[in-house]
Amino acid sequence: MANIECIDASSDYCPCYLAEVGECLTCSLLQGEAFCNCRWTGTCIFQEYAWSGFRARSKRETILCEVMERKITDDLLILTLKVPQRMAKSLEEPGSYIFLRGHSSLSFFDVPLAVMYINQMEKSIKLAIQIKGPKTKFLKNSNSLMYLRGPYQNGLFGLKQIKQTYRSGCLVILSGVAQTSGVSVIDELLKNGNEVTLVIDRSYPFFVREYISKDIKIYEEDLSSERGEKLLKDLISDENIRLIYTGGHSELQRQILEFALLYNPAAYLAFSNNSRLCCGEGICGSCELAVKGQKVRGCKAQFDVRGGYDG
Ligand code: FES
Repeated sequence: MANIECIDASSDYCPCYLAEVGECLTCSLLQGEAFCNCRWTGTCIFQEYAWSGFRARSKRETILCEVMERKITDDLLILTLKVPQRMAKSLEEPGSYIFLRGHSSLSFFDVPLAVMYINQMEKSIKLAIQIKGPKTKFLKNSNSLMYLRGPYQNGLFGLKQIKQTYRSGCLVILSGVAQTSGVSVIDELLKNGNEVTLVIDRSYPFFVREYISKDIKIYEEDLSSERGEKLLKDLISDENIRLIYTGGHSELQRQILEFALLYNPAAYLAFSNNSRLCCGEGICGSCELAVKGQKVRGCKAQFDVRGGYDG
């Protein structure tokens, strides 16, 4: 059995809708069992459920936001949105994401987007959107007001490992539009006194450059080339590397997992969450993954990616 934790356990959004239908990821009582055998997450979820009248607690908000800035280069749209202070605050954690749609679009146009950068003074967030299919094309064409639903936190797997790494060597590997997820990861690692080395896949423009600290070592390389593969092997083999974060496509994640298991089995691993997120609440099932043969909802579950997982 995989060791699964819920990202929302003991948060403002716990207990959630899953508790109402006996599907809580953490509480055995709310799964219909007779005895408690939960891994304590800081509160008794069953007690919280009883206190909230045997219903899901607070629901995530959908708010109307003003677009402060819109920049488009080729297929990449960078949006700056004005948000309420409490929303900006709750999106600070690595892995935070929101759903966004145009003012005149219905809720099934919602696009899940990692929060790239937050300006707490200005109360604004920056998002990077690769214009690819109908939903993102509608976003590109929408006007100066947009609906934002959030906050959501499970944009990466291995949050605990990132937050528990202090004063160590860390390797961050970013590729494509998933670079967005790396900005807050690097901030968190630097905040904890870590030394960060960043590898950027040259197959896509390095658009997060202006949002990351100048105090880190950066390599830019085509990671699908032989040179790129050698660079990854060399960096991963460094025994001073305690944590490796990969924000990129699943093929790259598989390659990093393989190299890490071979050359640095002691390092913690964390990956961007590449699941197809739709509701973000554990309801629709579009994000389902298999972790050690167990089916889990990618929008809710945290687990050790070293055990491997399939989409
Ligand atoms: S996105 Fe709907 S269940 Fe995960």
